[in-house]
Amino acid sequence: MDIDEFRVHAHTFADWMADYLTSVEQYPVRSQVKPGEVLAQLPVSCPEASESMDAIFADFKSTIMPGITHWQHPKFFAYFTANSSPPSVLAEMLTATLGAQCMLWETSPAATELEARVTDWLRTLLDLPAEFVGSIQDSASAATLCALIAACNKATAGRFARAGLAGGPPLIVYASTEAHSSVEKGARIAGIGADNVRKIPTRDDDGMDPDALLEAIRQDRAAGRVPACIVTCFGTTGVGACDPLRQIGTIAHEQDIHLHVDAAWAGSALIVPEVRAQLTGIEHADSFVFNPHKWLFTNFDCSVFYMRDPSALTGALSLTPVYLESKNSKQAPEYRDWSVALGRRFRALKLWFVLRSYGAEGLRQKIRDHLAWTEGLADLIRRTPGFELTTPPRFAMLSFRYAPDPRMEATAINDLNERLLRQLNDGGTLYLTKTHYRGGVVIRFVIGQTYTTWRHVQEGWELIRTTAGALQQPAS
Ligand SMILES: Cc1ncc(COP(=O)(O)O)c(C=O)c1O
Repeated sequence: MDIDEFRVHAHTFADWMADYLTSVEQYPVRSQVKPGEVLAQLPVSCPEASESMDAIFADFKSTIMPGITHWQHPKFFAYFTANSSPPSVLAEMLTATLGAQCMLWETSPAATELEARVTDWLRTLLDLPAEFVGSIQDSASAATLCALIAACNKATAGRFARAGLAGGPPLIVYASTEAHSSVEKGARIAGIGADNVRKIPTRDDDGMDPDALLEAIRQDRAAGRVPACIVTCFGTTGVGACDPLRQIGTIAHEQDIHLHVDAAWAGSALIVPEVRAQLTGIEHADSFVFNPHKWLFTNFDCSVFYMRDPSALTGALSLTPVYLESKNSKQAPEYRDWSVALGRRFRALKLWFVLRSYGAEGLRQKIRDHLAWTEGLADLIRRTPGFELTTPPRFAMLSFRYAPDPRMEATAINDLNERLLRQLNDGGTLYLTKTHYRGGVVIRFVIGQTYTTWRHVQEGWELIRTTAGALQQPAS
């Protein structure tokens, strides 16, 4: 393809993109294809001869699009959103065109310096400690892995990176039973081991129990093990709960243990001062991660990771073979030492576009809407007989279940809610996911899609209510 052809197709694609975003509501939210259906339409071998872009684009529309789940659909209420926005998509187009690999300052000084600037803007907007230094990672999982690596290297005075863990006392990581699976995955990858992740029980508010944490630390120390990291969550994946950061922070400080805050989803809401007021104790945190790719209108992938003392991480990860020697600006970090991969995408550009295009106040307003609509939805649920609000609005998420008859067995209620969820998602009008809460199946409702309005939430709730009412119920 020559550049003249590229220009023509780029215009066609831009039109398709704008049409898609204006009509996304007409697609089924969750892809309705059966397993193997897309694969069966794809030739087994790669074409030998060049194919036209018209043919490739036609196949994209007929073969690929049916197998897409529409994360930008305004009735996407599942998981946590991966919301994007027009300015973010425009920036991604430029990023793809530049195709810059930004591993060193020298390989694109603007990428490194913009990353330093936008992570600093966000630190100020979220009112995080002034000492925090930011970087952009691909995911919260990668950031948490980096936090664990930094914590282990600190706890072993550098032995972790030099000699590994063999022969030394086990290093221990603490997180609540509600913590995201990325904590245990990170512990496995870092060589800490799943058996050395203590899953601390939660209290009635679903946050980690600080007394149980302290007791676990004491037992580990008494047995000669080394507490290395406490991971607290601000907005758990299951039900949006927050660990009591002030109390846990005090424990981490007194016990001299690295404290990492996983705010992957709810962190974006900290730009709203009313929400920020809920985050007390952050002054004790050593690292913090949140994902603008979840709730700050920035295309996946974009995870912002802060460290109080980056040398704890770079001390473990920095390696400079001759082929990477380069003159640094000294104005910004060499981010290659901050992550597992050497190569780095130019992720700062889309954040810069989003922050400037919306402005901080525009972003606050969008998140305030999501918070208010979640309260509004909770009111609708409370007023609807047969439904229970199983967890209250926490940020822009709540959970509920359908339990029309108090005499029903727990297993029958679970089965009813599984069937309700299946029927709703198979219908394609909206998309929801479930979790287990206090032994029962509950349905999560997350409001955070860029194009969602209160109408979409109301229509979504109406569909849930009528679908539930029409479900065949087991005889009680
Ligand atoms: C609380 C929490 N932490 C971490 C993650 C992992 O995020 P990522 O997909 O960016 O690795 C998630 C994902 O939903 C999450 O909810």
